[in-house]
Amino acid sequence: MKTVAFFDTKSYDRESFGKFSDSNIKIRFFENKLNIDTVSMAKNYDAVCVFVNDSIDSHVVSELEKMGVGHIALRCSGYNNVDLKAAKGKIRITRVPSYSPYAIAEHAMGMILTLNRKLHRAYIRTRDHNFSLEGLTGFDLHGKTVGIIGTGKIGCAMAEICRGFGMKVLGFDPYTNSLFCGENTSLEALFSQSDIISLHCPLNKENYKLINKNTLEKCKDGVFIINTSRGKLVDTADLIAAIKTGKVGAAGLDVYEEETELFFEDYSDEIIHDDTLSTLISMPNVIVTSHQAFLTREALNAIAETTMKNLKDYFDGKELKNEICI
Ligand code: NAI
Repeated sequence: MKTVAFFDTKSYDRESFGKFSDSNIKIRFFENKLNIDTVSMAKNYDAVCVFVNDSIDSHVVSELEKMGVGHIALRCSGYNNVDLKAAKGKIRITRVPSYSPYAIAEHAMGMILTLNRKLHRAYIRTRDHNFSLEGLTGFDLHGKTVGIIGTGKIGCAMAEICRGFGMKVLGFDPYTNSLFCGENTSLEALFSQSDIISLHCPLNKENYKLINKNTLEKCKDGVFIINTSRGKLVDTADLIAAIKTGKVGAAGLDVYEEETELFFEDYSDEIIHDDTLSTLISMPNVIVTSHQAFLTREALNAIAETTMKNLKDYFDGKELKNEICI
């Protein structure tokens, strides 16, 4: 019997992984995130399974290796939270490259519709028997231009949705994707022509804080910024400054630079000591969701199925199709 320690798990993880259990793999679900303070919990396990806000830095990698943990199964597609250099040749790493691009793209469009038509404000108003329409004016998406940064699986799904709304779709990606239904363009052109910019690229050294003071200055006045990718693609202080001047008309953020300690947890009875996040949340033209774009039944099932297959293939000594850091 092989054993796997699952970190940062919630009820929905336990439910979806329960459907794809394997009689030869014993799972222990922990609520704790994996980091240097909790890595000792992985002792006596053959593998660990982690999510987006677990921190697998060089120290954690070194501790896992010492304990004989041979495999890190990421139950997500992004891997910016893993020190790949440190893990290379020591621990095998797999991920779930694709589970439901529609889940994330649909959430991004949901944020655009909510922000533009101010549904979040209308919902609160009518609950308070306030039936005034003052301040709720939006614009037609039809005929507007959306700029998609990263035209991979999610970017393509987003492009299709936007096309369905009659929008002009621009895309920037260092690699051209023949499945992308929009027009490939330069980053400069995308910034200057887009009414809405939606981020769908992974976080890497080249695009760290891609949305910043300088790039926002190149954008149209009132541009919407939608980020369902990774928080550190956006310089949050610069974004807030641009929202205050009106340069940015609205922001939909499913991810946040400093989300690690906050997102996925309930702090509703506590004071949040993150003034930047508090400022964002207080703004009427900003929506923050806590990294929930992936959270559909279809995506959860696909994540569980692929992760269990990655673990089984590793334990059976088979080729690891979804291995990274080879
Ligand atoms: P993908 O690998 O299919 O596509 C990513 C695309 O971004 C690739 O075409 C790549 O060439 C491009 N890219 C890389 N660097 C770039 C740059 N500097 N500028 C522009 N494009 C660049 O990945 P997929 O499945 O579409 O996922 C995209 C991202 O979405 C993930 O890396 C992850 O960060 C995020 N994500 C967020 C989720 C959420 O729940 N909020 C869930 C799943 C993914």
